[in-house]
Amino acid sequence: MQQSVTFPSGTVKYIFQSSCEEFLQTCDKQHTVLLTNEHLAGLYPGLFKDFKTIVIPAGETSKSLDTINRLTKELLLMEATRKTTLIGVGGGVITDITGFLASVYMRGISFGFIPTTLLGMVDAAIGGKNGVNAGLNKNIIGTIAQPQFILFDTHFLETLPDDEWSNGFAEIIKYACIFDADMFAKLSRNSISYYQDDRGEALKALIEKCVAWKNKTVLEDEKENGVRKLLNFGHTAAHAIENMYELPHGKAVGIGMVIACMLSEEVAGMDQKVQADLKKLLSKYHLPARFNINAAKAMEILKMDKKRIDDTIDYILLEKVGTAVVRSLPFAVIENVLTQYESDN
Ligand SMILES: NC(=O)c1ccc[n+]([C@@H]2O[C@H](COP(=O)([O-])OP(=O)(O)OC[C@H]3O[C@@H](n4cnc5c(N)ncnc54)[C@H](O)[C@@H]3O)[C@@H](O)[C@H]2O)c1
Ligand SMILES: [Zn+2]
Repeated sequence: MQQSVTFPSGTVKYIFQSSCEEFLQTCDKQHTVLLTNEHLAGLYPGLFKDFKTIVIPAGETSKSLDTINRLTKELLLMEATRKTTLIGVGGGVITDITGFLASVYMRGISFGFIPTTLLGMVDAAIGGKNGVNAGLNKNIIGTIAQPQFILFDTHFLETLPDDEWSNGFAEIIKYACIFDADMFAKLSRNSISYYQDDRGEALKALIEKCVAWKNKTVLEDEKENGVRKLLNFGHTAAHAIENMYELPHGKAVGIGMVIACMLSEEVAGMDQKVQADLKKLLSKYHLPARFNINAAKAMEILKMDKKRIDDTIDYILLEKVGTAVVRSLPFAVIENVLTQYESDN
């Protein structure tokens, strides 16, 4: 099933419920370069054997300008021209690198994404943000450019480790909290194993729904001046604790969503039941709601957030499940809630 969406920065073809292997057969081998990591090249050797393929080490540390420099030289050696299409086959690390490299190589060549993680399928591959890190500053160097296509093949998820499934579900739960009370209810009736074992229609429908939510947001606000900010729900506190405790992103977002709920009760009049429901939901998807944080230290990092304006931060809160708002919160309010979270756990 295919559909196209046109953004200010380009038109993207979404190829849902498709086979990566069959799709690659239709690509022009002369003018295609695949980019993947060592891990996926080892798991799926057959996919890459007929193509010019660049394989990089797995992991976030590959998202650097050093990698971009090295890959630029590799593309030149492979005689990649402006007619070449670069296709990233991998998780968010690979699709971020692919999009950035392709949008600057020779001032921009075509590119496509084949996300292989759940998080990639519902989040990282969607929206046109591409970038690399500079030291600890995540995604600080980047472009906004859309891939020509994104192909969704859920067969890849058969080899995805459980922790990576949970990371993907943290973002899915995020969409449910901010946009979609029906999805929240459906996720609450099911569990991670339901989607893992089934991997059929239910999972595919969930992925397509998340893609639609992210696209709708990006269409309204490609440059993140307004509604796209809502996608940061759970992420402000998550960013503060993620590096501090070396937590996987999804786990940090789970904790961040609980903290955002506590703030929502305090300043947005959200019913306490939402926090209780969210905690139950997180546990069904193997995400922690409780964690032993050091509130003072977390606050120090939070004060360095990009979204800081004087002594406030724009925070994403819920009025109820499915309705999110942006509120400028004074540091003192956030610190109080972090301290309460610390003493609750
Ligand atoms: N551009 C955006 O809008 C956006 C949004 C969200 C996240 N991101 C970025 O995405 C990255 C995180 O993405 P991710 O969670 O996909 O992580 P990832 O790309 O690091 O992949 C996670 C791990 O899973 C492995 N893996 C991938 N597919 C697999 C498969 N099918 N079977 C077995 N193992 C597999 C990878 O080798 C890696 O070890 C971060 O760098 C983040 O900044 C970008
Ligand atoms: Zn995230």
